[in-house]
Amino acid sequence: MVVLARLLSVILLANCVASVVSAKTLRLGLITPPSHTWTQAAINFGKELEEESDGVYTLYVYPSRQLGNEAQMLQLLQTGALDLAILTAAEVSNRVPEFGALYTPYLAQNMEQVSRVLRSSVANRLLEKLPEEIGVVGLGFGAAGMRQILSKRSIDTADQMIGKKLRITPFTPIKDFYRLTGAAPTPVPLASVYEALANGQIDMLDMDLELILKLKYHELAETLILSNHMMFPSVAMMSGRVWGSMPEQDRVMIERLMRKHMGWILDTAELEEQGWEQQARSLDISIIDAGPEFFGAAVTSWESAWHGQAQIIRDLKNTVEKGL
Ligand code: BEZ
Repeated sequence: MVVLARLLSVILLANCVASVVSAKTLRLGLITPPSHTWTQAAINFGKELEEESDGVYTLYVYPSRQLGNEAQMLQLLQTGALDLAILTAAEVSNRVPEFGALYTPYLAQNMEQVSRVLRSSVANRLLEKLPEEIGVVGLGFGAAGMRQILSKRSIDTADQMIGKKLRITPFTPIKDFYRLTGAAPTPVPLASVYEALANGQIDMLDMDLELILKLKYHELAETLILSNHMMFPSVAMMSGRVWGSMPEQDRVMIERLMRKHMGWILDTAELEEQGWEQQARSLDISIIDAGPEFFGAAVTSWESAWHGQAQIIRDLKNTVEKGL
């Protein structure tokens, strides 16, 4: 009897050890706050991964730059110290210039077109470059809303942007665009935007409506220019090192689930676009409806400056028209 009990406890202990050894904890980092759709998608991806893997995988999500800024998280992915991240394509474009083509001004006019571009084979070919170029595996595109401009002081024309300190996300395509408008593009990371606007470090900012409303930047502003001048994609990525160490069936599961939840981000942005615009129009600030003509020659000059990416820009434009 004693021997049997001992044997049973050894078997129980062995099972315990085996499940501890086979259980895997993954970490995913983002710069967006917990309420943001990118963060919600990451959390839902983690829940589904845990369920579908019968608890083999657990995901910890670290929002709001808890693991560092995007450049630092990309480095952590490269070394394998971080497993997953949902980052702006802006950060990726700092390392892989072809991603800059996604920021062609007025490439897409609304979120329906953004969704079509980012689900296309042309966009997916961009993801395929990531393992070789920067050692991460691209698992799908999401996006924030179209870019708009918020101004602390009242303005009526683009001429009044000349020389104004205009907050940008730190990446080259947007810096080039605002330089061409005559504004003074001023890189400020998302976490510091409210303070920068409040203390006069910036006069204007480039942002999407979801964040303008959720982070209440409009409370500090007098004019909102609804320009929809650029899209703002995000990229889900896994460390190439971690990916290489995983069994094939786990990679398939992770890619399928992540693509599903990145797709949800695109669907949600498409669904909520009108509501965000209605909310913005009901704010107590003046609204300017602006198309490409508002920016004068800046739109076409941007494309001339980015002629090195002309082929991919043409291919992306075709996806808007034909949905390839
Ligand atoms: C921004 O830098 O403006 C930004 C970053 C992440 C999500 C949305 C916007």
